[in-house]
Amino acid sequence: MIRSVVRGNGAALPRRIMKNADFEGMVETSDEWIVQRTGIRQRHVAADDETTASLGEAAARAALDSGGLTPADIDLIVLATSTPNNTFPATAVEIQNRLGMRHGFAFDMQAVCSGFVYAVATADLYIRGGLAKRALVIGSETFSRILDWSDRSTCVLFGDGAGAVVLEAQDGTGGIADRGVLAASLRSDGVHKEKLFVDGGPSTTGTVGHLRMEGREVFKHAVGMITDVIEATFAEAGITAEDLDWFVPHQANKRIIDASAKKLGIAEEKVVVTVDLHGNTSAASVPLALSVAVADGRIKKGDLVLLEAMGGGFTWGAVLLRW
Ligand SMILES: CC(C)(COP(=O)(O)OP(=O)(O)OC[C@H]1O[C@@H](n2cnc3c(N)ncnc32)[C@H](O)[C@@H]1OP(=O)(O)O)[C@@H](O)C(=O)NCCC(=O)NCCS
Repeated sequence: MIRSVVRGNGAALPRRIMKNADFEGMVETSDEWIVQRTGIRQRHVAADDETTASLGEAAARAALDSGGLTPADIDLIVLATSTPNNTFPATAVEIQNRLGMRHGFAFDMQAVCSGFVYAVATADLYIRGGLAKRALVIGSETFSRILDWSDRSTCVLFGDGAGAVVLEAQDGTGGIADRGVLAASLRSDGVHKEKLFVDGGPSTTGTVGHLRMEGREVFKHAVGMITDVIEATFAEAGITAEDLDWFVPHQANKRIIDASAKKLGIAEEKVVVTVDLHGNTSAASVPLALSVAVADGRIKKGDLVLLEAMGGGFTWGAVLLRW
């Protein structure tokens, strides 16, 4: 059977780093509060010339380089983002153009913080269905543009950045020892819309709007939803937490990550944590975390890796793959 195997990966971050202390003159907060409640120490913030498209392009180029590929080798781009450059066309198509690609097809995927997990699961289906041979799967966000910078309960939490992987069709046996995407589980439930949303849009206010969140409510649901979808993925693949080499969760809050890992019985040393460096970069957080753990030598070819995310909608999901 065909498997969607990771052939390369990469990341890109805005030049400017904003430390927790930089908020102290802007809103009533402190480095201590932010670190204690979230684990975040800094985040990158895009300058005017840095956009979801430019960061996504840079991450895509890095992923292509790491796989020894060029844009000519790609026939599908799936971009996970909630902060597109324009309402339309899809920013994925802009990235396609920036890469000099006149072939193949590209589209955006909007599942907020779960976007990258949704995008990997989607690209995997296109590849296994024979519609694409090599897909660039990108998560790129500029949440700094939709933050209310006077709201301390949200503005300290998010950051900008991009990460990407190249998935390639390769033959597999169909067993758990194969490299590539092995199992996935996706969920959504719109009853939770008001807990995390943007208060604007083309069809309602005609404005871009700002992010609004009931943090405590999101927190309350997060661990249960995350563990449910991961247990479904384990069951589909016929594995347990002990079989995992690495857990790469969405990076929203260190307390959510720790509680989820504990509930699932995933050992602390297998958990990749980058929320301290990037804050919550929404759809970019999982591929950014992957890029850190691959670059420092933790994630290696053949390792069993679990990706997970939960976000606005609510949406949530998990993907199991062998790197
Ligand atoms: C947002 C979050 C960090 C807040 O932590 P918390 O422990 O739940 O804190 P609470 O919301 O109970 O707020 C505690 C107090 O801190 C205050 N506070 C909020 N933001 C603050 C900040 N940046 N600095 C200082 N105080 C702050 C609140 O106003 C509240 O004060 P009050 O008790 O006087 O009302 C936490 O709820 C969270 O991470 N939620 C999930 C968010 C998330 O993951 N979202 C993305 C999903 S993709």
